[in-house]
Amino acid sequence: MSERALFVTKIGVIAATVGSAVGLGNIWRFPYMAGENGGGAFLITYVCCVIILGIPLMCAEFIVGRKARSNASRAFKVLAPKSKWHIIGYFGIISSTLILGYYMVIAGWVVEYIFQALRGNLMAESATQIAANFSDFTSDTWRPLLWVLTLLIINYLIISKGVTKGIEKASNIMMPILFLILLIFCGYTITLPGAGEGLKYLFYPDFSKINGSVILAAMGQAFFSLSIGLGILITYGSYFKDNVSLPKTGLTVALLDMLVAVLAGVMIFPATASFGINPTQGPELIFVTLPNVFKHMIMPDFWAIMFFIFAGVAALTSTISLFEVIIAYFTEEFNMNRKRASIIIMAIIAVLSILSSLSFGVLSDVKLFGMNFFELSDYFSANILLPAGGFLFSIYIGWVMNRKDVYSELGGVNAIYKAILFSIRYIAPISIFLIFLSLTGIFK
Ligand code: PFF
Repeated sequence: MSERALFVTKIGVIAATVGSAVGLGNIWRFPYMAGENGGGAFLITYVCCVIILGIPLMCAEFIVGRKARSNASRAFKVLAPKSKWHIIGYFGIISSTLILGYYMVIAGWVVEYIFQALRGNLMAESATQIAANFSDFTSDTWRPLLWVLTLLIINYLIISKGVTKGIEKASNIMMPILFLILLIFCGYTITLPGAGEGLKYLFYPDFSKINGSVILAAMGQAFFSLSIGLGILITYGSYFKDNVSLPKTGLTVALLDMLVAVLAGVMIFPATASFGINPTQGPELIFVTLPNVFKHMIMPDFWAIMFFIFAGVAALTSTISLFEVIIAYFTEEFNMNRKRASIIIMAIIAVLSILSSLSFGVLSDVKLFGMNFFELSDYFSANILLPAGGFLFSIYIGWVMNRKDVYSELGGVNAIYKAILFSIRYIAPISIFLIFLSLTGIFK
């Protein structure tokens, strides 16, 4: 096999990994989760979850990836030959495929809104018209698919160039743009009259609001946002050079990811508070509520264009990482070149995306377990495969993997090793088990 690629620079490692973590999860999921779960109370719980659970689990995936220098499934074949552990790699590869199938659809909506904003259409409408346009667009058969196709081609152009010239280079360009837009935006929203109320809601913790369901919601959000449990971080870790510090990378990525989520809250809460608009949840938040918020701002089209470009860039760098899990598997297991593997994977994703997209239109009544295809892929991957993957990774790294390898991959500092291992062995599996029970409804 030809020599395996690596991320060349330390900045590239951070840009690519932050690129994976920062996505639609930060921009619409975090604000609506915070809105639903007590604002500041949710934020503080989320920060605790990221620190005691998220960072150790990120390190756990990096350890496996870098030690084995293989895709998410083969990594376990290398580290634990003749065992069945590699099956957990399949979990990741299947869930990444399923997640991409619907993530692409939402990312496609973002691209549509960039164009609507550029044409100036978005702001010309009344509030009810904005909502009606959104549902007309999502239930259309062809238009959303056109954007999915466009995004598949953009992903192809980046991914087929390889790890260094494609993913690392694209991330190095896109991530600074993303942070710049975010800072400009927040600089404006915090100066809006009445913004203080929104900020207070987001930052002032009312500890009495913290309960079991808030903690579980915060843990779930930490997983989703840090891309844990899918083998993305195993795959990216396999491209880290030996001199990259895994705990430092985990810490930096987690802090930047949290920063984006919090700043997305700072973009949204002061503005909604200032204009007296209720932040609704889910897809509606950015496609219906926010355009209504922009309308009240000075230069509404400018802010709308900036926002949707920002969301589009965030979504794109995340789809690249989801793709890479599958590409690494195809190229290494079937000895295929990247271009060929990319085309096959694009075809599979295209089929899944068609089914997901049509779930908002002609297939909306086709249901299994009471869910349409879009809802089913979301539920099955995020609620079942993702926690299951994270749980099994923590068991493998905490209890099965060679202790010396874990120690040396973590940089050989006793205190850091002990703290991270404690979380991977005890805190992570127990908490994930509780999330899992709560999601299945067995435990409330
Ligand atoms: N972490 C990214 C986000 O928050 O959007 C991408 C992502 C990875 C989403 C894994 C969902 C997921 F399960």
